[in-house]
Amino acid sequence: MEGGDGPYSYTQNSEYQKQSVDSAKQLTNELIDQLLDVGNHPYSFSNSYRVADFGCSVGPNTFCAVHNIVEAVENKYKSQKMESRMPEFHVFFNDHVGNDFNTLFRNIPATGRYFAAGVPGSFHGRLLPSSTLHFAHCSTALHWLSKIPKEVTDKNSPAWNKGRIHYAGAAKEVKDAYSTQFAKDFDSFLSARAQELVPGGLMVLVSLGFPDGVQVCESSMGENFNILGSCFLDIAKTGIITQEMVDSFNLPFYYPWPSELKSLIEVNGLFEIKKIEKLVSPTRQVKPDDLAVCVLHLRAILGELIKEHFGEGITDILFKRHTNKYVESPVVSDGRYFKETSYFVFLKRKMNCAS
Ligand SMILES: C[S@@+](CC[C@H](N)C(=O)[O-])C[C@H]1O[C@@H](n2cnc3c(N)ncnc32)[C@H](O)[C@@H]1O
Repeated sequence: MEGGDGPYSYTQNSEYQKQSVDSAKQLTNELIDQLLDVGNHPYSFSNSYRVADFGCSVGPNTFCAVHNIVEAVENKYKSQKMESRMPEFHVFFNDHVGNDFNTLFRNIPATGRYFAAGVPGSFHGRLLPSSTLHFAHCSTALHWLSKIPKEVTDKNSPAWNKGRIHYAGAAKEVKDAYSTQFAKDFDSFLSARAQELVPGGLMVLVSLGFPDGVQVCESSMGENFNILGSCFLDIAKTGIITQEMVDSFNLPFYYPWPSELKSLIEVNGLFEIKKIEKLVSPTRQVKPDDLAVCVLHLRAILGELIKEHFGEGITDILFKRHTNKYVESPVVSDGRYFKETSYFVFLKRKMNCAS
């Protein structure tokens, strides 16, 4: 993610992801109200309720998500007339070590409602001590793979993704390689969280994806990635970058169907599924003709990945070219392409599980 708070930063360009946080609020409240057992709260070593946001980025959306959770837990204590046992809140903000934690820390709201800590590292592994976490949250981050499956960049594999930057519109083998990687990553995520959460601990996941059966290439997102891929190829023709650099660049994003999420959670076996529900589609609320917003969102997300692979030089040229092509594309105005959505998943860590 682009750090800081400049014009290309995630901070300034994450309204799309904010819509997912907002649309998950009501369900989060309802399920906390139904499922949080305040009479039997397992505090392990102090009267604190510990919440972690995995893949928090630099804000501000993480602060809204955390606020919603803290408020819902407080409301549950109040509704049960248990204010005297109201816990203190300890919130852990997690993202990769390269995340701009300075910007995050500078912007933590000074409400005094919770104590905050940063937890750097990959959420595909363990980040917190065993059985110390009460609530885990992760919004619009699970689709990031831990790595690009190696077949996708292997010239000798049927899954070699030559000339493309994503599995959208690619051979079936490419999608299969991405989905296999996602299955491994999601299982690692669930197993790590199951160890960190107390028995009965709760977890909200907001996952970007598509309704069952819908292919990413049928969506505006898939088309957008294909347009971006064609811009890389155009730039390669000018000699600024090489075709090999394009062939070895792939976006590490996989967008699961809800049925895939459900079956992977069941196979993992460490959580009870309390709810899986489609949320209001974020793209429908970003005005489709507001091109500048769409392009800035994409740049805030992809800018760092592109710089890492191609160096500092091409980002401006690339996104200028992308904007010119994108404006001509039918996906900008044709509502039939707006198929991407997000799914709300509410899980409860099983009371007895060998994690
Ligand atoms: C689209 S942003 C979403 C940020 C925030 N949750 C929100 O709703 O605005 C995805 C974030 O997930 C982080 N992320 C991706 N993979 C991760 C991993 N394995 N461990 C920790 N953070 C990760 C990225 O660095 C990025 O900041």
